[in-house]
Amino acid sequence: MILPRRTFFRTLGWAAVGYPDGMSAGLHIQVIFIGSDGATHRVTAVPGQTLMQAALSAGVPGIGGICGGDMCCATCVVRPAQDWVSRLSHPVEDEQIVVRGLPAHHPDDRLGCQIRLDGKLDGLVVTLP
Ligand code: FES
Repeated sequence: MILPRRTFFRTLGWAAVGYPDGMSAGLHIQVIFIGSDGATHRVTAVPGQTLMQAALSAGVPGIGGICGGDMCCATCVVRPAQDWVSRLSHPVEDEQIVVRGLPAHHPDDRLGCQIRLDGKLDGLVVTLP
């Protein structure tokens, strides 16, 4: 399948096309995804990637990115561990609308494509529905 350039980049992030000047691949962020079956997937991400991009790059099962981060597919929904909820950026209204529209949503659910990773999120733990 050939993805449009914008979708390709938004789905896979800087790791797919190389890092621009000033963005180093040297700093790595550990993210832990817990699948619906309880399986744990430890992923090494880079600053600037979204949570969805990091998961797709690492082949984490149970998360998608069909719309490339345009907040229309909700295949990237994650539930941050309770102690991480307040450390994430607040969801914008469009994200809240999409999440609230899901059949079995939880108030803490987030779109992984809207969580941009940086050093402050090292150790982030999320579960997948
Ligand atoms: S990738 Fe489609 S809503 Fe996040």
